[in-house]
Amino acid sequence: MRTPLIMANWKMHKTMAEACDFATALQATDLLTLPCEVSVCAPTIHLATLDAMKLPFSLGIQNFYPAASGAFTGETALDMLQGMDIVYALVGHSERRSVFGEPDGLIAEKFAYATSYGITPVLCVGESLAVREQGQANAHCSEQLHAAFSDLTATQLPDNLVLAYEPVWAIGTGQTATAEDAQDMCRHLRQVMAERFDAETAARTRILYGGSVKPDNIEALLASPDIDGALVGGASLVAEDFYQLVAKGSAACQPR
Ligand code: PGA
Repeated sequence: MRTPLIMANWKMHKTMAEACDFATALQATDLLTLPCEVSVCAPTIHLATLDAMKLPFSLGIQNFYPAASGAFTGETALDMLQGMDIVYALVGHSERRSVFGEPDGLIAEKFAYATSYGITPVLCVGESLAVREQGQANAHCSEQLHAAFSDLTATQLPDNLVLAYEPVWAIGTGQTATAEDAQDMCRHLRQVMAERFDAETAARTRILYGGSVKPDNIEALLASPDIDGALVGGASLVAEDFYQLVAKGSAACQPR
């Protein structure tokens, strides 16, 4: 069964006080009773403080370096999260690929590393507008998946594998893929999973949509049969708004 997942990606936003205020505001809601899983990928520096609070959502890390320790100035090792309950790690986000130049090989290493570490990678794929206009969106996203999985077998994948389809042209632009286009791509990605691994793996993989998800479009997106949740940037920053988004999304997206 695929439980819907709505995941916030705060990117490089919020002071420590603002992060704590967000958590406190959501503690006062019935978030935990809603029929979907909620997670927040907070800035790394806030994770320990948030983890020490009683949260109605799980935590994810936005970035890490795939080594236990070493001369990697400015980077964070998953080992440094020991003692904290960090469930997810974003891998292959388009801002890491384009702004920080992360190549496919590093993304594959990060995917395998997080998996072997017991932190679930949320593998992001998505095409640029130029690629979509050339009719290459499906091929591009499927290549990104194949590259990230490298030579892993189905049994080496995390039990609760999560993919996120995030068209680059929709991220932070206010321009959302139509529910139909997002559904078509998510169905395609599930098909790729079935071909690369097997039908059972494809059926259990949760596939999120991300890119300008807002209260007025989340219902149509999450009602689509192959879209199992959302990865939300800008609309996840204000606690009350994020709560509304989760409430609407979880009502639309039944476990499947
Ligand atoms: P957005 O960001 O919701 O602000 O478009 C989504 C993301 O980058 O994960």
